[in-house]
Amino acid sequence: MNARDQGSGIRAQVRSARGRVGRARQPLGRIGLLAGIGCLLVMAGCRQDMQNEPKMIPQRGSEFFPDHRGARPQVLDTVARGQLHEDTYFYTGTVPGPNGQREEPDLMPFPVTMTVLKRGQERFNVYCTPCHSRVGNGLGEIVQRGYKPAGNFHDQVRLSQPVSHYFYVTTHGYGAMPDYSAQLTPADRWAVAAYIRALQLSENATLQDVPSGTQVENLKDIAREENLPESFAEPWALPSTAIQALPPPTGQGTPAMAPPNAAYPKISIPVTKTAPTNTKPAANTK
Ligand code: HEC
Repeated sequence: MNARDQGSGIRAQVRSARGRVGRARQPLGRIGLLAGIGCLLVMAGCRQDMQNEPKMIPQRGSEFFPDHRGARPQVLDTVARGQLHEDTYFYTGTVPGPNGQREEPDLMPFPVTMTVLKRGQERFNVYCTPCHSRVGNGLGEIVQRGYKPAGNFHDQVRLSQPVSHYFYVTTHGYGAMPDYSAQLTPADRWAVAAYIRALQLSENATLQDVPSGTQVENLKDIAREENLPESFAEPWALPSTAIQALPPPTGQGTPAMAPPNAAYPKISIPVTKTAPTNTKPAANTK
């Protein structure tokens, strides 16, 4: 084979290779087009579901279940994750009494450390002070503007209540007081209950409670030092503009408000306004 023959041989090979590629390209193109159309058709089917996602929306009906409810009832005899409340005292603040009634022991379900008290103080100041005030006398800002006086934690009634009662009241509400179970976890409610006890101790402390050697200052002197009016140290009274809510109508199941304790001298609550007699409906005694 001479060089020239070799050269033409290579050209011939290239040409035939091109011819192969050329022939192969045409059927590939057709297959590609068909596959593309097929894909489009299939995806057009998907599009509907992607647009209207087949998911459950809270409180909306469902065509999937025979009862047409999207929200499913909990399966009988099962416990959902995070719902195994084995420590019933921690979650309810009560123990069953001998006759089946609930009892409130004066007991914290976990040890009260300074961290627990600090957490309780922080949560109390956020959620309870609007009505109960920072010192817990029940004369918070909202009460000064006409809300029903909130419980005074320093009167004999509240002082003698077990600590679990504060947990129970915060969990379920009490009379005019809303419940705080959504805002405060059980651990936080216990921390607040423990802090109420600390508040009670602080408000009813005597000189004997102070460690020997500690200097005790007069509140009036502190007020003066801090450039506060001297009235800062005086008993806390509701302003004359305060309105006290009318007593709740009986028979509605609302517990009556615990009466202010006259023996507790630090607060004075204006006399309850009684309903004006002329607004009573005309005698309807037939
Ligand atoms: C919107 C105002 C309001 C807020 C906020 C509030 N309370 Fe009260 N609370 C009341 C009122 C009003 C009463 C008295 C209920 C009654 O007599 O109807 C009361 C009573 C109580 C009592 C006494 C129950 C009894 O047996 O006498 C406790 C304990 C108590 N609250 C704890 C709390 C705690 C803890 C918080 C914060 C998590 C809180 N409250 C937040 C209004 C409030």
